[in-house]
Amino acid sequence: MMSDTELKSLFESYLARQIFDKEPVNLYLPIKYTLENGGKRVRPLLVLLSAKSFGADIQSALPAAASVEIFHNFTLLHDDIMDQAPIRRGKPTVHQKWDENTAILSGDTMLVWAYKMLEAYDGTIYKKLTTLLNQTAIEVCEGQQMDMDFETRQDVSIDAYIEMIRLKTAVLLGAALQFGGIVAKASEPDLQNMADFGIKLGLAFQIQDDYLDTFGDKDTFGKRIGGDILDRKKTFLYIMALQQAGADDKQHLQKLYADRTLPDAQLIAETIAILKKYQIDAIARNKIAFYTEASLEALNRTNLPENEKLFWQKFAQNLMHRAS
Ligand code: IPE
Ligand code: IPE
Ligand code: MG
Ligand code: MG
Ligand code: MG
Repeated sequence: MMSDTELKSLFESYLARQIFDKEPVNLYLPIKYTLENGGKRVRPLLVLLSAKSFGADIQSALPAAASVEIFHNFTLLHDDIMDQAPIRRGKPTVHQKWDENTAILSGDTMLVWAYKMLEAYDGTIYKKLTTLLNQTAIEVCEGQQMDMDFETRQDVSIDAYIEMIRLKTAVLLGAALQFGGIVAKASEPDLQNMADFGIKLGLAFQIQDDYLDTFGDKDTFGKRIGGDILDRKKTFLYIMALQQAGADDKQHLQKLYADRTLPDAQLIAETIAILKKYQIDAIARNKIAFYTEASLEALNRTNLPENEKLFWQKFAQNLMHRAS
């Protein structure tokens, strides 16, 4: 039996073997910089662990795992331009270190590379993986557009928010779990339940990301704290605060988001004060726990053996308590 840590290092060495120094340097170096800079590797672990759960040889799932991780990193390069993010994984973002044009084209190359990794598979498996990645990639773009549209909207409901994060984040976790299942030739109902497991886990994951963006520790999280507030993102925290706050505080919060003249530090501090007053941090923690629980109900509907289900329960609980 391989531990998570061993599985992660197996993935790291596989990924490292795919990366090489190539020209033009300004296309390939940002890719190398991004992929060598770690991250939690949650999605490739989901692929490998799912393949293992359904009885496949882990080696056979490595290209699928790399595909999902390279796709994810492509989205980050473009997302950091869109969100004007200066820091990721504790280092300058690609558009900061190089420039936006570089981040666009290196990102595009990674998107194609993600598909290229799937060339390792034949026949039905290749077809299924490609079809799923196509659908997922389009959904991620839909979610990203909704996220951007919401920045300038005042009336985002909690349902609209959940649909937005389902698309921008959750479907990729669902696809990762299905990728492993597809390589292992899992049954169609099991694939569906794994997708559902991943989507619910992904909703918890994005609410946790929103939470950490405001309440996390800069060095552990590796991103600028308060970035979502500066971008006027309609995060879980913001939407819940509007719902919970008294009339005066609600108006104050809306004014803060509308005011483009406030110094960054003041905007962040005053927003956080309102969030804390209405215990929005605790409400977010509850929602994260709720979706984690819901994800495990989907997992329970699979035909996986009890020991595998137990393993995934622990995995989901750990993810829920992550700080980075
Ligand atoms: C960041 O994903 C983007 C989101 C969907 C929240 P991760 O939190 O998985 O980022 P890395 O890959 O570990 O850096
Ligand atoms: C993540 O949204 C969705 C993506 C498709 C990248 P965020 O914008 O919240 O991700 P981070 O916080 O920058 O990693
Ligand atoms: Mg974003
Ligand atoms: Mg972002
Ligand atoms: Mg975020």
